[in-house]
Amino acid sequence: MKIQSTSGLSFVLVLLFSSSWAASVQNHEDFLQCLSLHSQNSTSISQVIYTPNNSSYLPILQFSIQNLRFTSSDTPKPTVIVTPLHESQIPTVIKCSRTHGIQIRVRSGGHDYEGLSYVSELPFVILDMINFKSITVDTETRTAWVQSGSTIGELYYRIAEKSKVLGFPAGVCPTVGVGGHFSGGGYGLMLRKYGLAADNIIDTRLINVNGEILDRKSMGEDLFWAIRGGGGASFGVILEWKIKLLSVPQDVTVFTIDKTLEQNATNLVHKWQSIASKFPEDLFIRIIIRRVSLARDGKQTIQASFNSLFLGGQDRLLPLMQENFPELGLAKEDCTEMSWIESVLYFAGFPRGESLEVLLDRTPLVRQYFKAKSDYVKEPISKNGLKGIWKMFYEDEAEAAEMILSPYGGKMDEISEYAIPFPHRAGNLYKIQHLVYWEEEGEVAAERHISWIRRLYSYMAPYVSKFPRAAYINYRDLDVGVNNQGNTSYAQASIWGFKYFKNNFNRLVRVKTMVDPGNFFRNEQSIPPISLWRKKKGD
Ligand code: FDA
Repeated sequence: MKIQSTSGLSFVLVLLFSSSWAASVQNHEDFLQCLSLHSQNSTSISQVIYTPNNSSYLPILQFSIQNLRFTSSDTPKPTVIVTPLHESQIPTVIKCSRTHGIQIRVRSGGHDYEGLSYVSELPFVILDMINFKSITVDTETRTAWVQSGSTIGELYYRIAEKSKVLGFPAGVCPTVGVGGHFSGGGYGLMLRKYGLAADNIIDTRLINVNGEILDRKSMGEDLFWAIRGGGGASFGVILEWKIKLLSVPQDVTVFTIDKTLEQNATNLVHKWQSIASKFPEDLFIRIIIRRVSLARDGKQTIQASFNSLFLGGQDRLLPLMQENFPELGLAKEDCTEMSWIESVLYFAGFPRGESLEVLLDRTPLVRQYFKAKSDYVKEPISKNGLKGIWKMFYEDEAEAAEMILSPYGGKMDEISEYAIPFPHRAGNLYKIQHLVYWEEEGEVAAERHISWIRRLYSYMAPYVSKFPRAAYINYRDLDVGVNNQGNTSYAQASIWGFKYFKNNFNRLVRVKTMVDPGNFFRNEQSIPPISLWRKKKGD
């Protein structure tokens, strides 16, 4: 084969680039024309379409982006953003995207760790559900309908507005969107008592690839199963969820006790590993590991923060702690009693007395550059193993790193690993979230910090779940495997699929094959339909 001269090669590249660019511009214009042609009321749809020429395009794009890694100028941008006001506008977006070969990325709260709801290498439109935020709470039936663009903070607020003794077991950060959060599982401080958010969904409404609006009855139990933990993005556009509200006491108790290495942290963490998943299910004590500087001499050390929610008063908590974990030395002065909704603010990091209205503020609390990973632990890590982790936290890149250890057990042990696609149930002592944050912009800083967390992840391998090394889909990590941009084989998707879903991956593939055989709803970690896999193999 003759090798082309450099100038010949550049000519071909320029030609290829300009023809694909021209094709994408053409697609984009055809797409916009299609939207107005197929909309019953084209003025109304034109009011919710933003193209790069529009001054609101960038502010809308950036509004809910959590991870600053995906805000740089070279991050691929959508050709169009649509922020529907009514569900009747969505089937047109699906139809026109299919006709003109444009991908859809559905965004609710924008908290995806890898930006999959608003970044794609292929031409794409963002369907931003930000206007879908109505929440209807019914205390009589102890249920609520919550639209997918609502945040969990808004949901908690609306529940507390109607009742002091009802709550919902979802995540900690109030700005997380229910669209992505519930469809990936969604856990918080009540998971040992009530399981995940997805365990408490009783109905839903979704728009499928044909633009049909389905509820639990019309979609059937397979699809209803798949979207509660399998990630919504593979299956359609979730409009809203119906959830079961759960009892919370008038008063809960919270505490945070910080222990450094000098204060016996290694032994306490070591002990916590074998007892935290066996505590009564009203008690949740997680640990946050960080590097800190000691106030007295500035010396660097490792700190373990024991951060807890107890669903009851301190009179019941104190003897329970004395019996089960006396080494922590919990005293009355460490405990604060408050309402459940106040505890939501406490864990979100707001000071005592802050107005509950902050839960309605959708602006992300902090935006940082970050990379995260997850692990499940089935056997306590030895003290030497823990000391090896501490050592890594002294490295430069770990200045703002964290490890969050969340205990399982309780209700999590009682739910079958096949009940919903989220499979991480009995047998797990706790889950780890590994996180590294940084402040400097640019590739070099990103590379350094990402390489640190990858090294930490390698170090952890002997201590965590194996075959598969399990991971939590809501802590999205593209390092665990990705699809092709085009068709993906079952074998390729299995690499990441079994880590997130274990044997439920096969059922997810079957559901996908049934409801979206052409693989229209796809991203780097979406469930592939089996037909594509067969076609690739030639049968
Ligand atoms: P986003 O809009 O980015 O969507 C995430 C994924 O879901 C994308 O693939 C998207 O296409 C898809 N999707 C979104 N809306 C959809 C819809 N309506 N229909 C179909 N598909 C849809 N998790 C947890 O379990 N407990 C916790 O306490 C926290 N805390 C937390 C704090 C912070 C600061 C962050 C950044 C993240 C968390 N998470 C978490 C993780 C969180 O649960 C996860 O990122 C969710 O997917 C976020 O859902 P959003 O709707 O905000 O994300």
